[in-house]
Amino acid sequence: MGKLDGKVALVTGAGRGLGRAYALRLAGLGAKIAVSDIDLRSYEEFDAERQAMTAESTVAEIEAMGGEAIGIQCDVADPAAVDAMVGQVMQRWGRLDILVANAGGGRGRPMDTTATQLDPALLQLVVGMNLYGTVYCCNAVGPIMKQQRYGKIVTVSSVAGLSPSRDGGYAHYGAAKAAILHYTRYLAQELGPYGITANCIAPGTIQTGRIMSTVIPGSIGGNQDRSERVALRRLGTVEDCAKVVEFFTTDLSDYVTGQVIAIDGGMMR
Ligand SMILES: NC(=O)c1ccc[n+]([C@@H]2O[C@H](COP(=O)([O-])OP(=O)(O)OC[C@H]3O[C@@H](n4cnc5c(N)ncnc54)[C@H](O)[C@@H]3O)[C@@H](O)[C@H]2O)c1
Repeated sequence: MGKLDGKVALVTGAGRGLGRAYALRLAGLGAKIAVSDIDLRSYEEFDAERQAMTAESTVAEIEAMGGEAIGIQCDVADPAAVDAMVGQVMQRWGRLDILVANAGGGRGRPMDTTATQLDPALLQLVVGMNLYGTVYCCNAVGPIMKQQRYGKIVTVSSVAGLSPSRDGGYAHYGAAKAAILHYTRYLAQELGPYGITANCIAPGTIQTGRIMSTVIPGSIGGNQDRSERVALRRLGTVEDCAKVVEFFTTDLSDYVTGQVIAIDGGMMR
């Protein structure tokens, strides 16, 4: 018996990286998983992500574990596409218990994205995929979870949403992630009376392909050992984050809502 037997989870941005790890973990707990991504083969972009794959897609990996999953290609920054994605999940399984609104990330180089040099198109893109994408997903699942009088929503901020970077880079991303965190507190207030929890995670530096090959090299002082800034003296793994997602999506967190947990090993930014 898995803790999430009978439950249906939607994980956005699950083609690679952290989202893939959340999808695999929730599937391992017995949930049926809607694996969503703007590109379900996004792992092909980075060697490290490609090498981590044990099958040709996250869906295939879950099926190989004996789980049930569907893949849905969807841009979370497009509200009509998000509604269609959630409609597809409902058509397939008739319920939706868990949303992990993970799709997002930064774009551009930290050194080019300080607060006074934000390119409008890049700002639009990053706020769209992170903040708007999260809101559109919550808009779509909210009525369903209210009717079920059950639901667990996990939103994804970042340590960049808790405090600014030392060099001021990635200001667009930090602002979008701070907004997600505060939006989650509003979600919790609205949805609490329906028995729905909404919590947020704020990962630190987690070793995904994108972070290791684009973000760190594009930062000022990118060649410095980042683990020196972390109390636990190591960078995070996708599993470190998946464990906290397990907490927020199972009964372990039934009386916890509107909270944020930093998963950063005790990082000083
Ligand atoms: N890795 C870290 O250190 C770190 C730290 C803090 C927060 N985060 C957050 O965790 C989440 C996952 O990060 P990651 O490192 O795994 O990123 P990643 O870039 O490896 O994976 C993100 C996935 O989201 C998908 N995606 C991008 N835009 C999308 C869109 N508009 N619609 C649907 N899917 C889209 C991508 O195709 C990709 O598969 C992001 O929200 C990121 O901001 C990551």
